[in-house]
Amino acid sequence: MIYQVYVRSFADSDGDGTGDINGIRSRLPYLADLGVDGLWVNPWYTSPLHDGGYDVADYREINPIYGTLQDARDLIREAHAADIKVIVDLVPNHTSAQHEWFQEAIQSPPNHPSRNRYHIRPGKGTDGSEPPTNWLSVFGGPAWERLPDGEWYLHLFDHTQPDLNWANPEVQDEFRDIFRFWLALGADGFRVDVAHGLAKDMSFPDIPTETEELLVTAKLRNHPFWDRDDVHTYIRQWREVLDASPNNSMMVAEAWVAPERVHLYLRPDEYHQSFAFNFLESSWNPEELTTSIQKALDDAGSVGAVPTWALSNHDVVRHATRYGLPEGVEWRKWLLEGPHDLLDADLGQRRARAAIMLMLALPGSAYLYQGEELGLPEVWDLPEEVLDDPVWEQSGHTTKGRDGCRVPLPWTANGPSFGFGAGPPWLPQPAYFGNLSAANQALDPESMLQLYRSALRLRRALVPASDEIEWLVPHHPKVVAFRRAGGLQCWVNFSRGEIALPDEATVQLMSDPAETDTGKLPPDACVWFN
Ligand code: GLC
Repeated sequence: MIYQVYVRSFADSDGDGTGDINGIRSRLPYLADLGVDGLWVNPWYTSPLHDGGYDVADYREINPIYGTLQDARDLIREAHAADIKVIVDLVPNHTSAQHEWFQEAIQSPPNHPSRNRYHIRPGKGTDGSEPPTNWLSVFGGPAWERLPDGEWYLHLFDHTQPDLNWANPEVQDEFRDIFRFWLALGADGFRVDVAHGLAKDMSFPDIPTETEELLVTAKLRNHPFWDRDDVHTYIRQWREVLDASPNNSMMVAEAWVAPERVHLYLRPDEYHQSFAFNFLESSWNPEELTTSIQKALDDAGSVGAVPTWALSNHDVVRHATRYGLPEGVEWRKWLLEGPHDLLDADLGQRRARAAIMLMLALPGSAYLYQGEELGLPEVWDLPEEVLDDPVWEQSGHTTKGRDGCRVPLPWTANGPSFGFGAGPPWLPQPAYFGNLSAANQALDPESMLQLYRSALRLRRALVPASDEIEWLVPHHPKVVAFRRAGGLQCWVNFSRGEIALPDEATVQLMSDPAETDTGKLPPDACVWFN
């Protein structure tokens, strides 16, 4: 299991309100105790942090607010000593506008070769005052920004994140070298940001307006910037670099593509893993969840790979909150518009306990997002003045953004930032975070933290390495049940009543601890038994 560390919000060792690398080092015993096999560390490079560090100004340097390259080396060494691998987050689709390449490009005249590292083009219309295409930014608004000299540059995300021109061999060479740099530093793997981006249709066509609603998704085939075939050329270049290194390293794709296209990224000479986002996006519904699981298994299986599961990450509403919303409520919309009293927080917690057990029983790789082991909910009521995510501004305040899942972790029940650091944190924590602190939960045998610890321990012991899964015909239509090779069964009860377990069942773990010995599976609960 890989644990995702959002550096800025994990642990602050120097009291400046921002998490840092030495904070991660100080918590390695906690992570080892939880049972993690590896860490995925969100971008820690030099960056103006206009998009939480996904705007990289120097790919070979650590942001001073997080520490130094030596701190990164020390973290990797100490993690390895604890048998924990370290995956760094690589951002190849775009740089920060502060990157020296972009600075050189905008200070150079049109047609200068430095401009060809990005997509910088004249506009449309007689005076070039219209953007080159009708493409929209993922964060809202047009995907083009005009330079003072009249040309336009492409940014699929924030206007401070210009897109690189991957058709330029110089860009390709640079990134192979960046991979080598982090491998030499000891990295065990790479999470590749916007892995379905990079390649652009160099004829720069407009997107047909009848598919306008698809502008920011990868659902349109032959889309001018998502999930294009050329991207696989670059993936293979990186895979060669990884395979040539002695680190025995891996890479995992953040590719938001249709479920039946994920396997293209998982071919033997491409990524080792690619997230099954349709599982993450499924609502608490047995048909939707089983369909997403089966699709992911089939699709990955078609190229001899296994799926990669996650319930949360730093970009989505935390699942303890998503699962507490009535079915049919779109969580991104709910975040901004509410009504927030639709949320049943206790139900969300209950289902989150069941969901992690379901996920950890599946074949494939599992990723956890920091704080989910504490059952942290989305902090949906952050005041507007503290919002930091560029989505809020760029969308003209129509999308609230992702700050609510990035609030610094509570380590202790009290203290200025509940043990996160010695001073106020960069985003305010709600008062109830104290109760959810790791210290409190360590003392409570029925806490979410203890459930994660138990589930992870049992997963190592009981869940077989084989990729086989046998769906069981449930005796109730609202029970999802499957068996793994070796006999372990996983059942989830989506109905409103209790379900009897088979008489001979030996329960290994139940998401509802009060019911472990009753021979019954209550609603919204999951059990592992053999
Ligand atoms: C990815 C990251 C997200 C970031 C975006 C642009 O989706 O996970 O946090 O904003 O890419 O880099």
